[in-house]
Amino acid sequence: MNPSERLDEQLDAAIALLRRAEHAVAVTGAGISAESGIPTFRESGGFWEKYPPEQYATYSAFLKNPKKIWSMWRERSAMLRDSEPNAGHYALAQLEEAGRLEAVITQNVDNLHQDAGSKRVVEFHGNARWMRCKGCGHAEPITEEALERIPPKCSCGAIMKPDVVMFEEWISDDALAEASSLANRCDAMLVIGTSAQVYPAASLPRTAKHNGASIIEVNIEPTGFTDTLTDVHLQGAAGEVLPRIAARLTGENGT
Ligand code: OAD
Repeated sequence: MNPSERLDEQLDAAIALLRRAEHAVAVTGAGISAESGIPTFRESGGFWEKYPPEQYATYSAFLKNPKKIWSMWRERSAMLRDSEPNAGHYALAQLEEAGRLEAVITQNVDNLHQDAGSKRVVEFHGNARWMRCKGCGHAEPITEEALERIPPKCSCGAIMKPDVVMFEEWISDDALAEASSLANRCDAMLVIGTSAQVYPAASLPRTAKHNGASIIEVNIEPTGFTDTLTDVHLQGAAGEVLPRIAARLTGENGT
């Protein structure tokens, strides 16, 4: 069987599981935004190769040298502001609109699910369009003007921080509670474009599986889950695979 025939066969299996599902949810990672031109983290040429996480993504590194971290974020924010959703993001919004998907839990901070029209989005790692004061909690959008002088300061005098979860920080209580409840309750989970190496996000598919949900992985490569947890691995790009799922489940193509 060639890879395209194998994908067709796996798609049939995934569609059968999703047709039966009453509470399907998606967990997404950097891979879904790769086709929007945003580099993933751990692949060759990925973000962590240029910006090692221990130097750029820990809270202690931020406290030690906020100017250095903000200089990276100034560049990253401009890139994220210029990026647009791709067919994969739109397909998930279409599935939600059709009542086939309850929510998207995303590890991404790029806002592209919302831009594509997804309504219920749980942002597990925050949102890079915003910055927040660690002193008083005030939040405001990250704009070019706001970053003319870095690090940006809050009117209370404290330094603002990108509103994303850095290593050594914890996930927000609200995001954790909502994601856990969705993972506990769902009967099918689409796990899309994540290497599933970062916890606690990587525990969500385990929770879902433990509670009887089917796990459908969409990834160009196998992951640590593929042979252990996953029921169906759709090996392909999210921007190609997800529109095929959406077309079949929303009746545009009944095959
Ligand atoms: P990774 O970079 O670890 O993994 C990206 C995954 O996407 C890999 O498994 C790729 O095979 C897959 N992939 C790449 N292109 C794809 C495509 N077009 N379609 C489908 N799959 C594709 O990124 P994440 O798993 O999202 O957290 O990383 C998780 C967290 O690690 C991030 O949220 C970030 C990082 O540390 C924080 O910064 C807190």
